[in-house]
Amino acid sequence: MKRYLITGASRGIGRAIAEKLAKPDVTLLLQGRDTVALAETCKSVTSHCARVISLIHDLAVPKGVSDLIAEVGGNPLDLLVNNAGIAIVKPFGEITMVEWEQTLGVNITAPFLLMQHFAPKMPPGASIVNILSIAAKTGFANWGSYCMSKFALEGLSQSIREELRDHKIRVINIYPSATDTNIWSNVAGNWPRDKMITATQVADAVAFALAQPPDVLVENITLGNLGGDL
Ligand SMILES: NC(=O)c1ccc[n+]([C@@H]2O[C@H](COP(=O)([O-])OP(=O)(O)OC[C@H]3O[C@@H](n4cnc5c(N)ncnc54)[C@H](OP(=O)(O)O)[C@@H]3O)[C@@H](O)[C@H]2O)c1
Repeated sequence: MKRYLITGASRGIGRAIAEKLAKPDVTLLLQGRDTVALAETCKSVTSHCARVISLIHDLAVPKGVSDLIAEVGGNPLDLLVNNAGIAIVKPFGEITMVEWEQTLGVNITAPFLLMQHFAPKMPPGASIVNILSIAAKTGFANWGSYCMSKFALEGLSQSIREELRDHKIRVINIYPSATDTNIWSNVAGNWPRDKMITATQVADAVAFALAQPPDVLVENITLGNLGGDL
């Protein structure tokens, strides 16, 4: 039986990844904060996988991450998907310390702590998938704290990838452009949803990378709309 942990699985890209990776030989460990939304994800995957476990934790604070780690337990993971993320979009002069620290907590410290804890116990052939963003490579006005966190995750995951090569663990980075999910509901402005890619398309890219033979590493996938970025 394989064990896959997916953070931020209650909606959006995380839910789509859970739905895509649900298979009869897989136990899905799905994290979120919103109990109702996470229950919906669990309901949609439960008949397609061996078992689904709902994990309600706030990853903005290290205690939430350590509680998640404790609940996941000691059996090794075959896949860790660092997907949970937040976007606080405003001029940099208006970003509060609380917003800065929340962004660091969810988008960079939680992936760091989860990789640090789980990677040493992963078997050869296991994978870590980090959901980054085109904002891991390019700065955008008003996206300073978000870009900061994704650039940081980029450096961290590139380094960890090199450390884990000898252990035969793949670190796969995914860089979606604007994707039609709830994350945009809190971003001021009129964002054209019809020019965004879908969460399912991001999940398809994750599944493609994971489906390669164990000695083949798809290091990076950048996904965007042919029409260009927003
Ligand atoms: N949508 C895009 O345009 C886009 C593009 C590139 C990259 N991404 C990245 O894709 C990932 C998923 O984003 P999405 O678009 O699917 O956004 P979303 O629909 O807003 O989902 C975000 C997920 O992260 C979880 N999350 C947020 N804050 C959390 C916290 N403090 N503790 C635990 N979980 C938390 C949410 O859980 P609850 O809802 O249960 O709180 C939810 O499951 C993020 O890393 C994002 O940066 C998104």
